[in-house]
Amino acid sequence: MGVRVLDVSLAGLALYLVVRLVCRSASLPPGPPGLPLIGNLRIIRAEAPHKTLGAMTSKYGKYHSSRSLGTHYVFLNSTKAAKDICEQRSAITSNRPHLVLSHELIGWGSATPFLPYGDMHRKHRKLFVRYLLANSNLVTFYPSEEAEARRFIFSVLMNPDDLVAHCYRSTEAFILKISHGYSVKDGNDPLVEMSKRAIRNISETMAPGRFLVDFSRFVLRYLPEWFPGGSLHEDVKRGQKLISEAVNGPYEFVLKNLAKGDAAPSLISQLLREGVIGEDKEILKWVSFGMYLAHQLQTPSMLSAFFLAMTMYPEVFKKAQAEVDTVVGNERLPTMEDRDGLPYVNAICTELLRWNVGIPLPAHVSTEDMIYEGYLIPKGSWLMPNVWYILSNPETYPFPETFDPERFLGENQQPDPQEVCFGLGRRRCLGARLAESMIFIYIAMSLATLDVSRYAEDGVEWVPRYDIDEGMLRRVKPFKCKIAPRSSKVEDLRTRFDST
Ligand code: HEM
Repeated sequence: MGVRVLDVSLAGLALYLVVRLVCRSASLPPGPPGLPLIGNLRIIRAEAPHKTLGAMTSKYGKYHSSRSLGTHYVFLNSTKAAKDICEQRSAITSNRPHLVLSHELIGWGSATPFLPYGDMHRKHRKLFVRYLLANSNLVTFYPSEEAEARRFIFSVLMNPDDLVAHCYRSTEAFILKISHGYSVKDGNDPLVEMSKRAIRNISETMAPGRFLVDFSRFVLRYLPEWFPGGSLHEDVKRGQKLISEAVNGPYEFVLKNLAKGDAAPSLISQLLREGVIGEDKEILKWVSFGMYLAHQLQTPSMLSAFFLAMTMYPEVFKKAQAEVDTVVGNERLPTMEDRDGLPYVNAICTELLRWNVGIPLPAHVSTEDMIYEGYLIPKGSWLMPNVWYILSNPETYPFPETFDPERFLGENQQPDPQEVCFGLGRRRCLGARLAESMIFIYIAMSLATLDVSRYAEDGVEWVPRYDIDEGMLRRVKPFKCKIAPRSSKVEDLRTRFDST
């Protein structure tokens, strides 16, 4: 018996030594040479690193690495490499970068998207999924989604110049309803304003310039408050105050309503009623905030991109309207039940996810050394699927800058962008199905009720371009278009709006 235990231990030790040896002798994936100390900082911190890095594929292949200030970065420029690493090896490739200022000192690291991989992250995802499953996998949300989409159209018609603001406000109202049971008020809603400030703080403290605190973490973490120029402490206090307002405040709003017995259905109220207790209550608070945060960073800008695409490609808009008119008719507005009968509208939704990538380089971090195709990827490497490049690669998507829903219709369809656009593996977007359903119903409802055309001033037509604010999050820049009601459906809309 003792001998067998010894055998097993020796075999284990031998295996360990072989792995260490292979790891030591393996080289890093190829990549551009860097400057001393800062390595490839210039490329990584560029305005649109996904573009520069994607262009390197021709020289270095489908994945390549860079090093900067002691951190390894591995860029995954094909679906295969992204899946091999972030899905098939997800047990060791699902951590997140740790940002000292934003995540640790302020505390945003407790939100689901930023949590380190481990038990807490699993608990977050479990509670999220439990809520979705309890709602028949979203079906119970459909009536609220449809009602919110109708309100959206109504607001757009009232004030078409504020189209983009309506995209944000309306989808935000829907998500706050299902996360906290909160009804957004007209005008400056206090909770919305607070949440906006929180998101701004997250974006600012995670912006590349602010990574300074991460570069010199050992110095700055222990910097005394009286130290000259140390505005960092102020930033930390401001951020912590925002957490208390934007994360704790809405949670307490639900608790108060529960105590009064009139809490509207929501993620928090439903799971508390189902008996979520102890530490999990604290988690619920962050899960519901994470839901709001992740949604707000992506869905509204996707919806504005739809209006831009329709202004740029009027023929696509007309074809989609014709499909909606044929399938839905003039007597009613589209509902989620129409989804399967509207292939062209669905293809528009799919093309939107490809054409308008919101998170071009989602970051996973490895928790162990690994060998991939003979190359060493050291523990702690940032693993970044280049989602933008994968979905703009002309070998996969000919004329990638053209918005063309036909890619996803008929024979020889191009690959579904959903393989990568919602991320991968154990960090894949938790709201993908919800986002898809929202995008569908807002688009279908817009096609049925609105006419979108190019803006003209003094007889000169403004030719729209796909203009983007590049960064870790990509957003469509403000654009102009003309929106008018399609008369037959709008009366119906008014009646329905009045009755909700
Ligand atoms: C079109 C809209 C959306 C897009 C394109 C999108 C995309 C993404 C991407 C790329 C990630 C990172 C995945 C990774 O690191 O591999 C992510 C994470 C996440 N998304 Fe979304 N998302 C959208 C809408 C939503 C909505 C509506 C919700 C919630 C209701 C949501 C909740 C989340 C959460 C909680 C995470 C963090 C997952 C984790 O770290 O474990 N997303 N999303």
